[in-house]
Amino acid sequence: MSDNQVLIFDTTLRDGEQSPGATMTHDEKLEIASMLDDMGVDIIEAGFPIASEGDFAAVSEIAKNSVNSRICGLARANFADIDRCWEAVKHAKQNRIHTFIGTSPLHRAIPNLTMDEMADKIHQTVTHARNLCDNVQWSPMDATRTEWDYLCRVIEIAIKAGASTINIPDTVGYTAPAESADLIKRLIDTVPGADEVIFATHCHNDLGMATANSLAAVAGGARQIECTINGLGERAGNTALEEVVMALKTRHDIMPWTTGIDTTKIMAISRRVSTVSGFLVQPNKAIVGKNAFAHESGIHQDGMLKNRENFEIMRPEDVGLSGTSLPLGKHSGRAALRDKLDQLGFEVGDNQLKDIFVRFKELADRKKEVFDDDIIALVRADSGED
Ligand code: KIV
Ligand code: ZN
Repeated sequence: MSDNQVLIFDTTLRDGEQSPGATMTHDEKLEIASMLDDMGVDIIEAGFPIASEGDFAAVSEIAKNSVNSRICGLARANFADIDRCWEAVKHAKQNRIHTFIGTSPLHRAIPNLTMDEMADKIHQTVTHARNLCDNVQWSPMDATRTEWDYLCRVIEIAIKAGASTINIPDTVGYTAPAESADLIKRLIDTVPGADEVIFATHCHNDLGMATANSLAAVAGGARQIECTINGLGERAGNTALEEVVMALKTRHDIMPWTTGIDTTKIMAISRRVSTVSGFLVQPNKAIVGKNAFAHESGIHQDGMLKNRENFEIMRPEDVGLSGTSLPLGKHSGRAALRDKLDQLGFEVGDNQLKDIFVRFKELADRKKEVFDDDIIALVRADSGED
């Protein structure tokens, strides 16, 4: 792996599916996994095998069918979870056990363990996972609210026990970009053995900063981003895969890291995840929202028709769309109407355009969007055809 390569770890089927109401069927999970594999996702977290028989079956089947992606399963810090996880992921050509425990003061209180007892548990469980699988990821859940000294101590233990990826979860979306970059950088500079493992960033979006925090973590030295399609995930969701990938592609000049994602597959998987999860994508969602490449106002449409770079920083084709959309509405101008008439095959002179434009504006005041059929009716009415 080159120094500027960032691995994409997709957890749509695990953290994403944990959103209340986002449950997917066995076949839907297989289909999404196959799309993720096909678009170049490096690691697919396919589920939490001990959670249910269904999760176990889905992770096992995804592991058997994987082509290029590494298949990972989640396990809490106990031998039963880890064994069950291994039974599911072992079928993949490339597999991973991801085990975790909450290390912040609040989360340590849940199992009621002292710091020493928890440190011992981390040593035992990571060692156990490493004896089963040669690729182990370890996460100190709620890392961003864990005491600095204790965080360094437990990460060192996990590395010594054989973890090759250390994930730093911002479990409750609490951090901010400068802090996110600084935390990863200081961990890499401080923890013995840190230069031999990959640091990952796993951000939640409670304050709307998951994408910014993930990219900042990469600037700090993280080389794996954990994310989900459409940002699906508990509460306000996880980092959106499409956002971090397109940000790295579009602003490569200031963020010189690359991913192996075929971005032209983004729209198809976004729509499929929306359908199977039942979570609609908001129209103004970055990259995959219905309006992300649509321009209605006259000034913008005129600018777009002259040079699309006036108002677009990405090419719609790069995310799998056929092109820009210039929906006609009450903010649209004459240039967009003329363009639409050309597309529909009408040749109208300047005077006729003036008439149709007046009627179009009257109609647009009454309707949210003016469709092709409306325009055709306006031209026909103006030509006295009905
Ligand atoms: O958000 C979180 O802390 C998690 C862990 C299980 C990695 O999803
Ligand atoms: Zn999470």
